[in-house]
Amino acid sequence: MQTPYASRTRSTDEVPSGMAIEVHGLTKSFGEVPVLKGIDLEVQPGKVLALLGPNGAGKTTTVRILATLLRPDGGRALVGGCDVVTQAAQARRLIGLTGQETSVDGLLTGRENLTMLGRLWRLGTRAAERRAEELLALMDLQGAADRPVRTYSGGMRRRLDLAASLVAAPAIMFLDEPTTGLDPLARQKVWDAIGDLMGKGTTVLLTTQYLAEADLLADRVVVIDEGRVIVDGSPKSLKRQVGSERAELAFRDGHELSVAAALLDDNHPVVDREDLTVGLAIDNPWHLHAILGRLRHIGLAPLSATVSQPTLDDVFIAFTESQRPEATKGAE
Ligand SMILES: Nc1ncnc2c1ncn2[C@@H]1O[C@H](COP(=O)(O)OP(=O)(O)OP(=O)(O)O)[C@@H](O)[C@H]1O
Ligand SMILES: [Mg+2]
Repeated sequence: MQTPYASRTRSTDEVPSGMAIEVHGLTKSFGEVPVLKGIDLEVQPGKVLALLGPNGAGKTTTVRILATLLRPDGGRALVGGCDVVTQAAQARRLIGLTGQETSVDGLLTGRENLTMLGRLWRLGTRAAERRAEELLALMDLQGAADRPVRTYSGGMRRRLDLAASLVAAPAIMFLDEPTTGLDPLARQKVWDAIGDLMGKGTTVLLTTQYLAEADLLADRVVVIDEGRVIVDGSPKSLKRQVGSERAELAFRDGHELSVAAALLDDNHPVVDREDLTVGLAIDNPWHLHAILGRLRHIGLAPLSATVSQPTLDDVFIAFTESQRPEATKGAE
């Protein structure tokens, strides 16, 4: 049974958690279709949380609820200690949002958009102009600053949209796929801007399709699938959960390869006769040392030994796959 959202109030003896974002048992349905089925997550002040999940998992829905744009059916969400339903106005003062769809005015220039927003935030004309200039520089948009936004490319619009959400230097920032569809240079600019925010102590909740981005920026990663949290941890701990590191040893010729593969048979080697490599799971740093020692003992030295860590891609696939019913696994 769901608790009606509005009937839940914070009791006076409840100790504030000090979390910048706090979500408990959040539920939301569109019509008859449940989209969020009880999301729990927390973000400490000044930290970056990456929210990952396949298309339709409920990431944007979660962000819209946290940004007070959508009302949840049940559960509770607090941003900066303010309930997003009962204290929406206070919550809104603390947050910035960049959505999957841009919100800037196409008829105005980039500079006019940013200056207008600064004025809306009561910065004063001069301060609003200065802030606009700063943000145009940060997003590398000075060259296009005085053109109407409708003439911008998709990536330029996206960067302007991010700049727009930074005008008020929010304490808590929601970024819904800030880099989707951007070229590598533009993506780097957005990462710089996020780095800038992190440096200022802003709390960031970021959704992304790029696991490398989550790995690079986030302190914590939450993966949701079909409206539920299926993974929650640091990028490092998740990578560790998915599997051990792997070593790849390259040899000079097929003979050396065969000798090495036979010697290391108890390590379940994966032998690639094209590339002349042997792949092995490595449990700890000493393991590789011991393997090289065994090879050396019979006078064999690989041409190279490289160690690779599992990526967040592996995490994502491993965890979302393990949630699917057995029958549909590997159906494609
Ligand atoms: N206003 C709406 N009315 C009806 N259904 C909706 C609405 N908004 C979202 N949905 C549905 O809710 C589900 C979750 O959508 P949501 O946009 O939160 O997913 P997402 O994780 O952000 O996906 P993506 O990676 O594609 O951005 C989807 O099945 C979507 O069709
Ligand atoms: Mg989305």
